[in-house]
Amino acid sequence: MRIVLLGGPGSGKGTQAKKLTEKLGVPQISTGDIFRAALKEGTPMGLKAKTFMDKGELVPDDVVIGVVEERLAKPDLEKGFMLDGFPRTLAQAEALDKILTSLKKTIDHAILVDVPDEELVARLSGRRTCRDSACGKMYHIMFNPPKAEGKCDTCGGDLYQRDDDNEKTIRERLAVYNSATSPLIDYYDGQGLLRRVKGVGPIGEIFASIEKVLG
Ligand code: AP5
Ligand code: MG
Ligand code: ZN
Repeated sequence: MRIVLLGGPGSGKGTQAKKLTEKLGVPQISTGDIFRAALKEGTPMGLKAKTFMDKGELVPDDVVIGVVEERLAKPDLEKGFMLDGFPRTLAQAEALDKILTSLKKTIDHAILVDVPDEELVARLSGRRTCRDSACGKMYHIMFNPPKAEGKCDTCGGDLYQRDDDNEKTIRERLAVYNSATSPLIDYYDGQGLLRRVKGVGPIGEIFASIEKVLG
C-alpha cells in the first residue's frame, strides 16, 4: 500500500505513521526525519536544510525532490511506503507523480489528519522526541507522556525538544502549511485519493479511523 500522509505541523503524522508501519509493514519516509538525520551526520545537505528548518520555512523543492527520488529507488518498498511530510508543495506533488509513473506505481490513499491550528501549537510546544534516529518516537509532556520522564518507552533513548518546536517557529510553520501545503488537499481530492480523518481525540481512536479508510 502506498500512502501520503497530509496534515499541519503537529497533526500527528509521525505518531500515526509509526503505528501504521507496525501494522502494514511498510516503511515510513519522513523528509523531516531524513533532514534531521543528515544534520546529525553533518552532511552539506543536512546543514543546508537546517537553515530553512530553523526558520520554519520549506527546504527548496529541488533539494527535497532529489532526496525523495533517491529514497524511492531503494529496494525495500515492494510492499509500499508511507510518505510523511512529503509532498508539501504542488511542485513536489507533481514531481512525485512523475517519479511514481517512471516506477510504474501509483498512490493508493492521501490521508489528511485534520486538526485545528490552536491545538497544533499546544501539541508542538509540549512535544518530546526520542534522540535515537532509528526509533524517533514522539511523546507529549501532557497528552502522551513517557513512562519514565525524559526516556523513550521503546528504546530507552533520551528525549529532546526539537529546535523548531518553539512558539515563533511553530507559528511560521503553520503559516507555511496553510499557504503552500493546504492546496494539496484539493489536488488529491481531485484525483479521488483524499481520505479526511478527524485528528483530534485519543491517538488510538484516530488510528482506528485511519484503519477504516484504508479498508
Ligand atoms: P517535519 O519534521 O515534517 O515537521 P512538521 O510537518 O512540522 O510535522 P511534525 O513532525 O512537527 O508533526 P507531526 O504531524 O509528525 O506530529 P507528531 O506525530 O510528531 O518537517 C520539519 C521541517 O523540515 C519543515 O518545517 C521544513 O523546514 C522541512 N521539511 C520537511 N519536509 C519538507 C518538504 N517536503 N518540503 C520542504 N521542507 C520540508 O505529533 C506532534 C505532537 O502531538 C507530539 O508531541 C505527539 O505526542 C502529540 N500528539 C499526536 N497525536 C495526538 C493526539 N491525538 N492528541 C494529543 N496529542 C497528540
Ligand atoms: Mg513528524
Ligand atoms: Zn526511542
